[in-house]
Amino acid sequence: MAEPERYPVSDEWKKRARVDAGGYETLYGRSIADPGSFWLEQARRLDWIKRPEIAGDWSFDEADFHIEWFADGKLNVAANCIDRHLATRGDTTAIIWEPDDPKDSVRTYTYRELHREVCRFANVLKGQGVQKGDRVTIYMPMIPEAAFALLACARIGAIHSVVFGGFSPDALAGRIVDCDSAYVITADAGRRAGKMVPLKTNVDKAADQAPVLKKVIVVQATGADVTMKDGRDVWYHEAAQGVGEDCPAEAMDAEDPLFILYTSGSTGKPKGVLHTSGGYLLWTSLTHELAFDYREGDVYWCAADIGWITGHSYIVYGPLANGATVVMYEGVPNWPDSSRIWQVVDKHQVNILYTAPTALRALMADGDEPVKKTSRASLRVLGTVGEPINPEAWRWYYNVVGDGRCPIIDTWWQTETGGHMIAPLPGAHDLKPGSATRPMPGVDPQILDADGNVLTGAAQGNLVIAKSWPGQMRTVWNDHERFFQTYFSTYPGKYFTSDGARRDADGDYWITGRVDDVINVSGHRMGTAEVESALVLHESVAEAAVVGRPHEVKGQGIYAYVTLNSGVEASDDLRRTLVQWVRDEIGPIATPEAIQFAPSLPKTRSGKIMRRILRKIAEGDTSSLGDTSTLADPDVVDHLIENGVA
Ligand code: PRX
Repeated sequence: MAEPERYPVSDEWKKRARVDAGGYETLYGRSIADPGSFWLEQARRLDWIKRPEIAGDWSFDEADFHIEWFADGKLNVAANCIDRHLATRGDTTAIIWEPDDPKDSVRTYTYRELHREVCRFANVLKGQGVQKGDRVTIYMPMIPEAAFALLACARIGAIHSVVFGGFSPDALAGRIVDCDSAYVITADAGRRAGKMVPLKTNVDKAADQAPVLKKVIVVQATGADVTMKDGRDVWYHEAAQGVGEDCPAEAMDAEDPLFILYTSGSTGKPKGVLHTSGGYLLWTSLTHELAFDYREGDVYWCAADIGWITGHSYIVYGPLANGATVVMYEGVPNWPDSSRIWQVVDKHQVNILYTAPTALRALMADGDEPVKKTSRASLRVLGTVGEPINPEAWRWYYNVVGDGRCPIIDTWWQTETGGHMIAPLPGAHDLKPGSATRPMPGVDPQILDADGNVLTGAAQGNLVIAKSWPGQMRTVWNDHERFFQTYFSTYPGKYFTSDGARRDADGDYWITGRVDDVINVSGHRMGTAEVESALVLHESVAEAAVVGRPHEVKGQGIYAYVTLNSGVEASDDLRRTLVQWVRDEIGPIATPEAIQFAPSLPKTRSGKIMRRILRKIAEGDTSSLGDTSTLADPDVVDHLIENGVA
């Protein structure tokens, strides 16, 4: 294989690095050789009510399966993100909120103001009956109140479950019911790219399917007309009148749950990934500082949505724990025009920018001019997350956006991992476009073959993590058995990531993508089984099989094979109906790119759908279908090839 393109650490970065190459080796070496003392020392970066004396206590073996970190410690996550900064950073800006429409006003909150807002929000929640351990669903647009809501839950020990505002009422209802959440926090509506998202109306529809729901707290964000149901719905601004501006922070065990976040897997409905308090906060705070070389006074912008793990870990918890000034953006990168994101960088003098390859590819398609007409001189570090970054997008980010000055920090991680797992540290690692390079302290990645043999040296296979780390998820809500089965049964004693990876001769990791039936659409996970279940709910559909296929901007697009019930006529109209149906069932992120009507699907004689073949046909790569002789009816394949959707 040709020598990969390499961008060595610049002289300037060698000088300014918080952790240089040697420093990384020492740090990483200690974290693996002596995790107990390493992590107890790291734990000092948090403010503990009771400092822990135990670090990790875990076993991935079935007989003794358990994962705990700092179990004897007590802390409050919100107090770590707010109160402890008040003495030294009370007047520092915590949140700069940039509205969807550049003509609207920016809102800023100092740490002192954030304290007041979060305390008030917490008191409103208490006033509505929310108690420690209760689940609170948050279905919000990207407004500061979304961050207040998360932190207010953390302050009183309630467990938040954020549902992305792009999910449909059905998807929202499923998530409310799964975690038995009696409370929803929402807004009248949200704004995105000049359009209104009817959040409250969606909650009303979800409520019909979620009898467990008792109270809906509604933030007035847009003034949109909504109906309020007596006894159930409460305006936040009314409830907040007269509540106290101080609310004591609940003393929580390090292992008390902080939040649930639903994510898609290869089978079944989305899983409620549970993260706890101490280890998660330590992990997000440490990785935020290391990966982005975060320094006091930096303006930091993570352009994700709070509805995803990236928003939880790197808009709210990690950066606020570090006392950062965080930009929170309501809109999308390319509205009103494709210069918007760079204009926001200049407007707020952003030093660190963190975004997704899919956004870069969309912007790249509009050329360099929208970038070049802005300054971007404030930028120092550029991060990326969510999917493999193709070298073209990487180079564009590096050369055009960063003017060749800013290291690109390609962070590989997952909802399950809580925070960054493999990523270069600026100033420590040479960069290679497409490689996430090296593990974070305490992360012990291994590459295995299909039989579970550990491959050494340069190798390609399945990526597992051999040791627990503080930010690891602790369970699947209400289904601990599923937690074990999903992540620890494939390769006994190891956490299986469901990603493939390659390690090159330098020891750098390259993530090759999911090896299960999860599709990565614009950096968002979508289970093929979820889309299939939505399709077969339609009265015309007998059977569906969904696969991913490469998409220039989104990374992957959704391609659905649909077998209709007998007597139903295939038509373009029906195709449009089914696309809309899936959007209504799940949300716009699940929109199928293509629907192919198939009289039948390729199955083995035992009835198993051969997805490998369906993937090839969707990709238009029919030259190497492999062995089709085991199919029950090999002729099916010819029909599918002839009718493939370009
Ligand atoms: O396949 C990997 C991909 O995104 C998956 C995790 O998705 P999710 O839980 O939604 O979290 C996204 C934000 C962390 C992974 O299994 N992925 C994430 N980051 C990268 C990536 N693939 C390649 N390179 C990355 N930097």
